[in-house]
Amino acid sequence: MEKKDLDWGSLGFSYMPTSYSYVCNWRDGAWEEGGLTADHSVTISECAGILHYCQECFEGLKAYTTESGDIVCFRPDLNADRMYETAERLCMPPFPKDKFVEAVKEVVKANLEWVPPFGSGATLYIRPVMFATGVVIGVKPATEYQFRILVTPVGPYYKGGAVPISICVSPFDRAAPRGTGNIKAGLNYAMSLQANVEAHANGFAENLYLDSQSRTYVEEAGGANIIFVNKEGTLVVPQSHTDSILPSITRRSLVVVARDILGMNVEERPVKFAEVEAGDFVEAGLCGTAAVISPVGKITNGDEVIEISGMEAAGPVMTKLRNTLTGIQSGEIEGPEGWVVKI
Ligand code: PLP
Ligand code: COI
Repeated sequence: MEKKDLDWGSLGFSYMPTSYSYVCNWRDGAWEEGGLTADHSVTISECAGILHYCQECFEGLKAYTTESGDIVCFRPDLNADRMYETAERLCMPPFPKDKFVEAVKEVVKANLEWVPPFGSGATLYIRPVMFATGVVIGVKPATEYQFRILVTPVGPYYKGGAVPISICVSPFDRAAPRGTGNIKAGLNYAMSLQANVEAHANGFAENLYLDSQSRTYVEEAGGANIIFVNKEGTLVVPQSHTDSILPSITRRSLVVVARDILGMNVEERPVKFAEVEAGDFVEAGLCGTAAVISPVGKITNGDEVIEISGMEAAGPVMTKLRNTLTGIQSGEIEGPEGWVVKI
């Protein structure tokens, strides 16, 4: 199989149509068989539930080429679990977990020429998405849905990849207590767009959100969780006391990598923004499928600029965590059983 003739190393995080997507419809109370399609467009009624009441959710994972040439993906079962829980919260029919993992394998297999080669710095981004296609005019769940998976080769989400980024504390809130911050629904991103555009216009790569109830605790970034390293070298992982942080698969994996593989101390607890202001943390990083681990050089809050590890280079702990995680994903380092799934 010939790889596509792309300049893999200079890909950004953008969409290009590939050979096939996967599509499966929910009709008459059941998921249909589902399968591959070369049609990358969707035709729906003007009255479809997605268009009016935003009944939609999505996932994000990646396929990697390993050193030995295998194509693998990373913990797809956890994406299946999260999408299942998200769908339930949005009154959508959850997509069966086994079928999700099989569909991921099927669509990656059908697009092998689009999977970036080992060492190119690029990966194949896999985007499962589910939305209400059934018509609704009063506020209620639709009765028909479509589940799709598109794949597209991508480079780094934040410019430069592993170089430090500068982020700002958002004046907006991301997630309410007892709201939808802990699920991967498109609506969480629609309401973050204004904050995102303003942060970019002000020269920041990303927003950091505080808890909306008290604006005291650090929650997460617009498209990634945040982790810190304190002066003692402990990995400090913010937990939300109101359950409004998205449970990042990357972050949960890094906790295991730090504790069990690198022998670090790990604290998962609510983190006050005052600790950041006090200079308690010597490193910070944004972590997620798209973000991988992007070191945070400084955090701006209004007029206050807090230097974390500076904009020169990534700190040693973030570098070690990133190298270990990406080493596991590309098969160079053996990870825990079941993390790397061969396509
Ligand atoms: N938080 C938000 C708001 C995200 O959009 C993402 C991306 O998926 C993450 C965290 C990271 O999650 P994961 O590591 O599962 O990709
Ligand atoms: C991902 O990391 O997969 C996401 O969905 C985050 C998004 C902001 C690109």
